[in-house]
Formats: sequence, C-alpha cells, structure tokens
Amino acid sequence: MDFRIDAVRAKFPALSLTDKGRRRIYLDNPAGTQVPQAVADAVSRCLLTTNANLGGFFETTIAAQDIVDEAHLAMADFLGAASPREIIIGANMTTLTYHMSRTLGRTMKPGDEIILTRMDHEGNISPWLQLAEDLGLVVRWLPFDQQSWQIEEAALAALLSERTRLIALNYASNLTGVDQPGEGVDPHCQAGRCVGLR
Ligand SMILES: Cc1ncc(COP(=O)(O)O)c(C=O)c1O
Repeated sequence: MDFRIDAVRAKFPALSLTDKGRRRIYLDNPAGTQVPQAVADAVSRCLLTTNANLGGFFETTIAAQDIVDEAHLAMADFLGAASPREIIIGANMTTLTYHMSRTLGRTMKPGDEIILTRMDHEGNISPWLQLAEDLGLVVRWLPFDQQSWQIEEAALAALLSERTRLIALNYASNLTGVDQPGEGVDPHCQAGRCVGLR
C-alpha cells in the first residue's frame, strides 16, 4: 500500500469535493469520518450480492457470514485483540455503550458507585447517567489535572470505594489530546468494573 499523503488522499472521494473552487477541510470525526472508495465499494457489494440474515443454510447467508467473520478477524488483527471474539461491531460507539451499560447494570444495586470523568465524550457519559438514574446508583465525577491534561492516579484513588462498580474512562481523550496512563489505572479496575473507550 502506498502511504504517501497524495496517494492516501486520492482514495477518499470526499476530499476532492470543492465549494466555489475551494477544497473542503473535514474537521469532525469519528461520526463524520470520511470513507475511502474501497470501503464504499465493499459496502455496496455486500448490500447488492450478500444481503441476508445470518445463520441460515443457503448461499447468501453463508457468504454474508463469511464477511462478518472476516471483519471480526481483520479488526482483531488491527487492534491486537487476543481473539476475534473480543470484537463487537455495532451501529456506533454510543449505541454500543448503551447496550453495555444495560448489560452491566443487571449486576448493580442501588447505592453502588460509578465513576465518570470530566473529559469524556457524551457517548461515554449519558448511558451511565441514565443507568444511574434508573438504578439509584451514585455518580462520582473524576476531574482531570489542568496541568498535565490527564487523569491523575491520586484523583482516581480518592474516588474508589468498596461500592465502586465501574470506571468509564477513555484511553485517549479528544478533548485534551493525551493518552491516559493505562498502567496506573488498570490495577484499580479490579476494585470494580472498568470500561475503557478508545
Ligand atoms: C471521542 C469520541 N467518542 C465517541 C464518539 C461517539 O461516536 P459515535 O458517533 O460512534 O456514537 C465521538 C463522536 O464524535 C467521539 O468524538
């Protein structure tokens, strides 16, 4: 694959669109992530030739299942996952987080505590706030350090308790642009459940 910038840009039709002669600059992602031609072609091929429910015994369903399996394998390879079973593909991050919150919520009780950060995207806040409201959970807000622009271990440690059940903490914030110190955070996750979002 040619990774020179012009070759990469040429793969994205949206990048050659112009307005009154001026090329566009797209500043939003991931919801507004532009799509390369190869992806649009693959989605089109899938819809036109392998559109079926999964788990059946006819040609189209088998072909569709192959695509789904390959996608899980490719994503596991890309992210360095131990197994494709670790990969869940869904409508988008927010929807998946809603699903996950409702699943984990079945193990929580009124008075249990969850920790949310002041540096997360709405998609990693609202699902947990709504769960807290529905189940009577206590929400503890984790601030970020305004010098380092990251979550400091001491601030997290101060919020942990016997009732902590979940920490909804991103690994890399697009608010502050820093990676969280993962090694410092991981051991605490054993105190409750830890949800990390990239
Ligand atoms: C950092 C971050 N996390 C999550 C989301 C939500 O993503 P989705 O649109 O897939 O729900 C966004 C959306 O822009 C985002 O910027």
